[in-house]
Amino acid sequence: MEKVSYILIVDYGSQLTQLIARRIREQGVFSRVISCNLLKGQGTTFVGQKDDLLKGVVLSGGPESVGGQNSHSFDEQLFDLDVPILGICFGMQIIAEVHGGKVEFGTNREFGRSIVRAHGKSMLLGEIQDFKNDAGHGLLNVWMSHGDSVTKLPPQFKVIASSADCAIAGIADEKKHVYGLQFHPEASHTTQGKKILERFCKSICKCPSSWTMKEFSRNKIAEIKKLVGEDKVLLGLSGGVDSSVVAKLLDMAIGQQLMCIFVDTGMLRKNEANQVMKTFENSFSGIVRKVDAREVFFRKLKGVIDPEEKRKIIGALFVEIFERESEKFTDVTWLAQGTIYPDIIESAGTESAGAAKKIKSHHNVGGLPDKLALKLLEPIKALFKDEVRQLGLELGLRKDLVNRHPFPGPGLGIRVIGEVTSAKVAILQKADEILLELLKTQIIGKEDVSKGLAMEDNIGKSWYEATAQAFCVFLPLKTVGVKGDDRSYDWVIAIRIVNSTDFMTANAARLPFELIELISSEIINKVNDVSRVVLDISNKPPATIEWE
Ligand code: XMP
Repeated sequence: MEKVSYILIVDYGSQLTQLIARRIREQGVFSRVISCNLLKGQGTTFVGQKDDLLKGVVLSGGPESVGGQNSHSFDEQLFDLDVPILGICFGMQIIAEVHGGKVEFGTNREFGRSIVRAHGKSMLLGEIQDFKNDAGHGLLNVWMSHGDSVTKLPPQFKVIASSADCAIAGIADEKKHVYGLQFHPEASHTTQGKKILERFCKSICKCPSSWTMKEFSRNKIAEIKKLVGEDKVLLGLSGGVDSSVVAKLLDMAIGQQLMCIFVDTGMLRKNEANQVMKTFENSFSGIVRKVDAREVFFRKLKGVIDPEEKRKIIGALFVEIFERESEKFTDVTWLAQGTIYPDIIESAGTESAGAAKKIKSHHNVGGLPDKLALKLLEPIKALFKDEVRQLGLELGLRKDLVNRHPFPGPGLGIRVIGEVTSAKVAILQKADEILLELLKTQIIGKEDVSKGLAMEDNIGKSWYEATAQAFCVFLPLKTVGVKGDDRSYDWVIAIRIVNSTDFMTANAARLPFELIELISSEIINKVNDVSRVVLDISNKPPATIEWE
C-alpha cells in the first residue's frame, strides 16, 4: 500500500465506513480501511507492528451491540499504539465499555436528524457549531443512528456532547486523545462533520495533507518502474475508466513493455471499438491489439434467452479469447488489472500484502484461469472511483473519457432482452447513441433547480454529467404505431437513467419532461425499427440497474 501518513479505519460493519474513508481523503489525508476481523488474525497482528506512518485510528459504527451475542471482538492493543483514537457510534460504545463505562441496549433509540450541544470546549468540537441557543451554547445539526447508548461515563473521560434524548453523545479523554461521538460526522446531514473529521485528522492526529493525485501519480510511476523492471505487462483494455487509467499510468511508467488486448465483442456502444483504438493505439509506445470477436459472440449467443446463461457464455468466451491472445505475447510476466478500493473493501477488507500475487480470478473479465500464472499488478487498488477519475485527468486523459458512465462487462448482450442478434444490437446502438448525445448536449439551468430536478451545483453541467448512468434497453416486444400515414408494427426501447453514488442503491433520475419527450421522439423518428419508447422509473432496490 501507499507510503504516506495515514489514518486507519477499523470497520465494524457500518454501511457508512467507506464514507468515513472518503471524507478523510477529501481533506488530502490518506485513509485505509481494515476489517475488525483482520486486526487479530492468522498469526499476524496488524496492530502491534508499530507503523510510523499511522497517525490515528477511527473505529466505525456497526450493526452489533457491544457485548451482544454476535459482537465483534475488540483488539485492546489499539490503545497501546499511542496514536489518537476516534470512535463513531458503535466505535464510541466500544471505547466506553473498554474503559469501564456502561452501554445499555435499546435505550434512547435515535434514527435521523438531531441537535447536539457541544460541551467543555473539547479539542475535537471546540468552536465548531451550526448555531447558538439563547444561553450562548454552541449547537450542531447531526445524524444519529443508534439503538444502544452509553449510560455511564468511564472514569477519566468527560462528556463533550449531549442531545435531548442522549445525555452522553460525545466523550473524551483529552490527555490520551481518545474521543467518541454517538452521532455520525461522516454523514452529510451532520453539517459540520467535515470540519470535525478535519479537526481530528489534522489538529489532533497531526496527519499531513500529503494525499494528492499529483504526488500519487509521481510515486506510482516510480514504484511501477522499480517493481516491473525489464518485464512485460499484459492489460485487458475495455475502454472503461479504470482500465483506461491503468493503461495510461503503465504507458507512462514502462512504455513499450506494456501490451494491451482490446476485445471487440460486437456488443459495445456504437463506434466504441474505433474510439478506444483511436484513443490508445497511436498514443501508446507499446502494442495495443484489437481482437475482432464479433462473429463468435453472436454465434454462441444464438437462441439463448436466459440472462444468467448469456452472462456465463459471454464471460467464458472472453476468458477464452483473452487467454488465446495473451499466448501470442511471449515473455509476459505480469497481468495488470483495474481493481479499485471498493473492490478490495467489499471482499472483506483483504488488503493484499504486496503486488506479486498469483492470479486466481479476474473480476473484470470473469475469472481468468490459474494456468496463466502471471503476477498481478493492481496500481489503482488504493483509489476510490472519484480518485481514479482525478488521476486520469492528472495523467492527461480526456475529460469525457474519464467521466464516462460505467458500462457492464457483458455489454449490450444483457441490454437486449431475450435472444441477442446483431440486428437487435444495431437498433439498440442507434437508440443509445441518440439518448447519450441528447443528455450530453442538454445543459442544466436554474429552472431545473427550482423545479427540484437538479441540485444547485449541477447548474451548467450536462444531464450526462449530472447522472450516474444512462442507457437504452431493447425489449423483445412489438407494438403498433403510426409512422407517416402508415401503420407500423415495431420494437420497443426502454430508457433507464439513474442517480447513484455507489451503484449498490440507485434512484430513477428526474429529468425535465420536455427532455424525455425529445429523447422519445428522436429515437422513434431516427431509428427505423422502433415504434415506442418507455421510461423505467424503478429504484434499486428492488429493481437492479441493468434489466438482466
Ligand atoms: P445492477 O444491475 O446489479 O448494476 O444494479 C450495478 C452496476 O454494475 C454494472 N454491472 C456490471 N458491470 N460486469 C460489469 O463490469 C457485469 O456483469 C455487470 N452487471 C452490472 C451496472 O452497469 C451498474 O453500473
